[in-house]
Amino acid sequence: MSYPYQIRTADQYKTAYEKSVNDPEGFWSEIASSFLWRKKWDKVLEWDFKKPTIKWFAGGKLNITENCIDRHLDTLGNKPAIIWEPNDPEEHHRVLTYRELYTKVCQFANVLKNNGVKKGDRVCIYMGMVPELAIAVLACARIGAIHSVVFGGFSAQSIADRLQDAKAEFVITCDGAFRGNKEIPLKSVIDDALVQCSFVKRVIVLTRTRTPVSMIKGRDVWWEDEIKRVETQGNPECVAEEMDAEDMLFILYTSGSTGKPKGVVHTVGGYMVYTNYSFVNVFQYQPGDVYFCTADIGWITGHSYIVYGPLSAGGTSLMFEGIPTWPDAGRFWQIVDKYKVNILYTAPTAIRSLMGFGLDPLKDRSLDSLKVLGTVGEPINEEAWHWYDEHIGKKKCPIVDTWWQTETGGILISNLAGVTPAKPAHATLPLPGVQPVLVDENGKEITGNSVSGNLCIKFPWPGMLRTTYGDHERCRQNYFATYENLYFTGDGCLRDEAGNYRITGRVDDVLNVSGHRIGTAEVENAINMHAGVVESAVVGYPHDIKGQGIYAFVIYQGAHGDDASLARKDITQTVSRIIGAIAKPDKIQFVSGLPKTRSGKIMRRILRKIAEGELDKLGDTSTLLDPAVVEEIAKGKL
Ligand code: PRX
Repeated sequence: MSYPYQIRTADQYKTAYEKSVNDPEGFWSEIASSFLWRKKWDKVLEWDFKKPTIKWFAGGKLNITENCIDRHLDTLGNKPAIIWEPNDPEEHHRVLTYRELYTKVCQFANVLKNNGVKKGDRVCIYMGMVPELAIAVLACARIGAIHSVVFGGFSAQSIADRLQDAKAEFVITCDGAFRGNKEIPLKSVIDDALVQCSFVKRVIVLTRTRTPVSMIKGRDVWWEDEIKRVETQGNPECVAEEMDAEDMLFILYTSGSTGKPKGVVHTVGGYMVYTNYSFVNVFQYQPGDVYFCTADIGWITGHSYIVYGPLSAGGTSLMFEGIPTWPDAGRFWQIVDKYKVNILYTAPTAIRSLMGFGLDPLKDRSLDSLKVLGTVGEPINEEAWHWYDEHIGKKKCPIVDTWWQTETGGILISNLAGVTPAKPAHATLPLPGVQPVLVDENGKEITGNSVSGNLCIKFPWPGMLRTTYGDHERCRQNYFATYENLYFTGDGCLRDEAGNYRITGRVDDVLNVSGHRIGTAEVENAINMHAGVVESAVVGYPHDIKGQGIYAFVIYQGAHGDDASLARKDITQTVSRIIGAIAKPDKIQFVSGLPKTRSGKIMRRILRKIAEGELDKLGDTSTLLDPAVVEEIAKGKL
């Protein structure tokens, strides 16, 4: 596999960038020509950010799995597509060649068809990090079903909300998942979710943990039985469905500043081109490289840079079932040495947590195979950046700090490994095709360097979201209405004297906890579900490992009120039930009132300062309904 559009020098980057701005259609059309299309597109781009409508490669016909699998069979059939490392290092690993992946995806695509799944149907996938998760995703794409993967840490209630929003009639899950020393009973969580979702017709269950599960007659079937059925039918192939470039590929739910998570929609053609282009350029992937992204496929990073980007490039993608600290904090490094990983892509929170274990876990690890390191998901602090550089990359591996979002589909701002310069804690420069602008509160563009503002993008790129499922107006409101004719990212950003971008974090009420996106309103809603809670307010505060922690101020009048510790646990339990363990508050402070303006609006700015411990910077509190409450809260700070 060769990548004619791979940028190899800083000059080539400059030229590509200029072309992408001066002639975006010519630029992307040339790149898209390297892919396998059943029919070429009629028009490269049609767009209007006001509505918004964004169409890339309209009229083009293709199937993304033919690009991720079939087209590699002749040349890479016996090469590993997916290497799978199990949670338990004693268990045998698995390697799926492109040929094997092809067979398995076709088989499972036929399983889906046998179970009534058709083009356009939504399929919810709730599985641990096993190869069958990637197979399920690709099998959906093969038959034109829209996958919606839900991360294994979300609760039954969260799944039910997503199933209802997507009107998904099909679920694929596992009996359970292994994560470190835990066993997560996935099927049982699905069973709880389905109590509220009687429209779900079929649940396909893969055996992984052998956790006992209930199987409901007429609804639940075993993955393995269904594969046998397909085998006896004797048709190993599954002809890929012909898709329009703008047909939906998947829905992925993500948190916003208000209400329930929204279903971000990505479409087939543009997403394919963009994830491939960004993968090949940012990581400088070379044929034969072993690439290890430590994310979970339940998040966008896993979609774009475990499955679609690497596979469309004919790459070898390593999938890891477990966690970085089990059985010990040397697990990543053991995996790197075991498979001679060349490119490692992980999150700052993982680096910070591993830093805490010192250098012992690195003893006897060579890490010699590493060429490129990457980070994603949150700002990386300089200390973590330098530790990664010195102790993992041994100062010979460029680090790419990749900034992007669920909505952007792929990396938008990042240095290109070894091609454009890195700068600690800076995502640096936009990829070709990406036109960032900084704006002030009124939407006025801030030009020049050494400035800061809200980060927007002023021109479409192929990987961007097209809508939020079932509610296009919400998409417009959220991303395209704040500033006219701009896509608003929700992030604050600095541009240094040389034009490098540094993302400083969200400017809305979205938290980033261990690289996971969580809306404060969502956590508040969950806390307020607890019977004893009168009102609550949630803010973020700096956390050494997680980046941000969740701090909840709660007015409480319920049971166990005389036992603050138990009441806190009750609330935490409620949040776990409603959202999932990832949204559990780190701190819960009981208060008698919340600082409110006279019109009844909670003054989060003040609560944020208290949570951050900046008690001398609370600002003017005289306009509050009850200024005394601030003093009380500040005194009780945890
Ligand atoms: O605030 C930014 C932060 O993560 C947000 C997007 O979260 P999500 O949609 O879950 O996607 C995460 C993986 C792409 C952004 O709005 N973020 C992501 N990458 C970086 C980052 N902040 C700083 N530097 C990054 N490299």
